[in-house]
Amino acid sequence: MDFITAQNLVFRYLEEDETQVNTKVVRNVLDDVSFNIKKGEFVALLGHNGCGKSTISKHLNAMLLPDSGKVYVDSLDTADEDEDFTIRKKVGLVLQNPDNQLVASVVEEDVAFGPENIGIEPKEIRRRVDNALKAVDMYDYRNQPPHKLSGGQKQRVAIAGIIAMEPSCIVLDEPTAMLDPKGREEVMSTIKRLNREQGITIVLITHYMEEAVDADRVIVMDDGKILTQGTPQEVFSQVELLKRHRLDVPQVTELCYNLKARGVDIDTLSLHSDECIEKLLEVLK
Ligand SMILES: Nc1ncnc2c1ncn2[C@@H]1O[C@H](COP(=O)(O)OP(=O)(O)O)[C@@H](O)[C@H]1O
Ligand SMILES: [Mg+2]
Repeated sequence: MDFITAQNLVFRYLEEDETQVNTKVVRNVLDDVSFNIKKGEFVALLGHNGCGKSTISKHLNAMLLPDSGKVYVDSLDTADEDEDFTIRKKVGLVLQNPDNQLVASVVEEDVAFGPENIGIEPKEIRRRVDNALKAVDMYDYRNQPPHKLSGGQKQRVAIAGIIAMEPSCIVLDEPTAMLDPKGREEVMSTIKRLNREQGITIVLITHYMEEAVDADRVIVMDDGKILTQGTPQEVFSQVELLKRHRLDVPQVTELCYNLKARGVDIDTLSLHSDECIEKLLEVLK
């Protein structure tokens, strides 16, 4: 069953002129965008800066509404004002900079902030906070001040704050962009585990191709439109299309592509180095 459906989504921001009286409509930032995301799926959303990824993410929890077209979340129309609250409980948003998302002076208070705000009772908050911190492997840090944590740890606490709201889906907008390699790895393995073990639907916005290879599906945006979508294998095999749009493919895939172009007999362009090595060893036999 589809959990999220975007149908012919069109969106433009209104731009104010200097007098701030007249507003002029600029180009379509999202231009006829359609996609479906199934319950429990892990989808990666890729594309250059400015192509509309963050604008899409804000449509997935009714922070922005389409100018035309529709977005449905669990069959609810995001344009239906009565459903705003329900939709925001179903879809949690994690942003790029963890420092902008942590508000309290102690980790567990931070995670409790969301549930407190919607009037959950204290005993239930305790249960949710403990579960959420365990789910991101930060339970041992529950009494620490967030500013003492590493970037990856802070981002995991921010994710715990979203999990404590018990969403069915988490949209992460470049959650690893400000992290070092270790922090990126921590956050990526946390996201994958939440998807695998708790069945949480994941929409991961990223510009690291390597973070998209393990997704169930990849959607590639270019200038407000969907350029291509499919399994990682289907998408990253289109090396020429992606390159024409100045997008990268994973390094291993690029290596396979170049070897093939030089006449090496490999059929599929691998996404993982282990698979690539196996193929090469076969060819060399
Ligand atoms: N609040 C805003 N007002 C006007 N234009 C905006 C606003 N936010 C984003 N844009 C423009 O919309 C386009 C898409 O932006 P965005 O969705 O942030 O892209 P991405 O997340 O892929 O980098 C860009 O051209 C950007 O400049
Ligand atoms: Mg963005």
